Amino acid sequence: MRFLSGLLLIMALSPLVNAGPKTGPAYTEEPFGTLADGTKITAYTLANTNGAWAKIITYGGIVTELHVPDQNGQFDDIVLGFDNLKGYLAGHPYFGCITGRVANRVRNAQFTLDGKTYKVGATNGEHSLHGGISGFDKKVWKAEPMLTADGPALKLSYTSRDKEEGYPGNLQCVVTYTMTADNALRIDYHATTDKPTPVNLTNHSYFNLAGHHAGSIGEHILQLAAEQFTASDELLLPTGKIVSVANTPFDFRQPTAVGKRLQEAGGKPVGYDLNYVTGMQPTPQPRHVATLSEPKTGRILKVLTTEPGVQLYTGNFLDGTITGKGGAVYKQHTAICLETQHFPDSANRPEFPSIILRPGETYRQTTIYQFSTAKK
Ligand code: BGC
Repeated sequence: MRFLSGLLLIMALSPLVNAGPKTGPAYTEEPFGTLADGTKITAYTLANTNGAWAKIITYGGIVTELHVPDQNGQFDDIVLGFDNLKGYLAGHPYFGCITGRVANRVRNAQFTLDGKTYKVGATNGEHSLHGGISGFDKKVWKAEPMLTADGPALKLSYTSRDKEEGYPGNLQCVVTYTMTADNALRIDYHATTDKPTPVNLTNHSYFNLAGHHAGSIGEHILQLAAEQFTASDELLLPTGKIVSVANTPFDFRQPTAVGKRLQEAGGKPVGYDLNYVTGMQPTPQPRHVATLSEPKTGRILKVLTTEPGVQLYTGNFLDGTITGKGGAVYKQHTAICLETQHFPDSANRPEFPSIILRPGETYRQTTIYQFSTAKK
């Protein structure tokens, strides 16, 4: 019934949804290419009544496009990505994807759980980053589009088999994207396992609120509700110390231009790439942890999450060698990721909030990327 009403809506709106801002609440479905083994990849668009819409593909659960209005009602696509599957298959730094089974870094690509040591896929020298060699960003997710009371949604399911990338347990994951009536992209994550395993899921969207093609994010203003961050070594692996942001270039408690202290932030390559502590435990309901705004367009992104950490990454490794949608060249510092998650290397850090999921328990995380503008 739901499917039928969705279909009828799509049919009724299809002349509209293919041009300019899409209007909904509706979803559409179209082919997005084929993998080498013949698997067909599908793209879904989720549009709300205001004309805001997201495009999400079954490969990696990647948000390939996200169109929201500026203060004059002009829409633009504010996430980095590619026009076609070929771009994603050629290799990319996790644009828009679901990241897991364990997002962020795992020292020495191993961890010990209940007395047993597990070796996982190393991708970052001898360390592991974002789930290993073939993480959730490279998996094909089963898709179920639907119309919900909150807006059009896409339910994506994937079962990560026992020992995949070295991780124990069959992990059943469901990630639901909803384009809400008030211009938020809401992401609900849910997972269960049949053996104890670490789980840390996030979405890795690269935002540029002036448009994915607009260049430097230096003038974006960021406010982050974090008193502390997890200190890391030169390879960005946590030392275990949790330190105060006070008197450092990492202090975003007051709204501050991202470019203002970017050089002082240091790093190789230079820029922000660190995990902020917004709490020491996940919360049952999402809470407001960050606000990003862009002065020229007036676009504002508020981030709400149940997660205790936010990795701020300013596209330091982008170097102009990637050409994305519409021929846009993605240079260094042309996007900002606000990856809501548990802390890096948590599987090896008993002092950090635990990421261990056990049989009978349910992993849940919700993150809301809420868009608005300075002027209504
Ligand atoms: C990491 C960066 C990395 C980027 C893309 C971020 O989550 O913190 O160090 O370069 O992802 O892989």
